[in-house]
Amino acid sequence: MTTAEKTKLKKIFDRNPKNPQALITVLQDIQKEFRYLPCDAMSEAAKQLGVPLSKVFSASTFYNAFSLKPRGETIIRICQGTACHINGADLMVEQLETELNLKVGETSTDLKFTIEVVNCVGACAMAPVLIVNETYHGNVRCDRAVGLAKKG
Ligand code: FES
Repeated sequence: MTTAEKTKLKKIFDRNPKNPQALITVLQDIQKEFRYLPCDAMSEAAKQLGVPLSKVFSASTFYNAFSLKPRGETIIRICQGTACHINGADLMVEQLETELNLKVGETSTDLKFTIEVVNCVGACAMAPVLIVNETYHGNVRCDRAVGLAKKG
């Protein structure tokens, strides 16, 4: 872990209570800062919060929101629910995989993009849905998907 990363981590521990009840909040803050949960950060969380490392790992694998692998600056999610599937989500996945040279579940080596598929996100009326970081795009034609993803 670099000095800059250690400083970021220290700030997270400084602004949270140092007790086991703060575990999820601390893991969320680490995930937000690093876009995943680095091993060193989880070990430090265990120490700082007085929680067994096994409990930190079990919390980090229980919640889908946490990732143990580095993720891209831009997280591209394609809804694969029924309405989106019927309206061309597969074509969108294909287009994104080809253009970004990545498969679903992968992160680019430059850590710019991660492609994921998700279940119905409850916006079926605007299927197919593409989510770029926190922004929802509806009625996305597959030829627009890459442009939207690259805009971030
Ligand atoms: S199926 Fe995609 S939003 Fe519901």
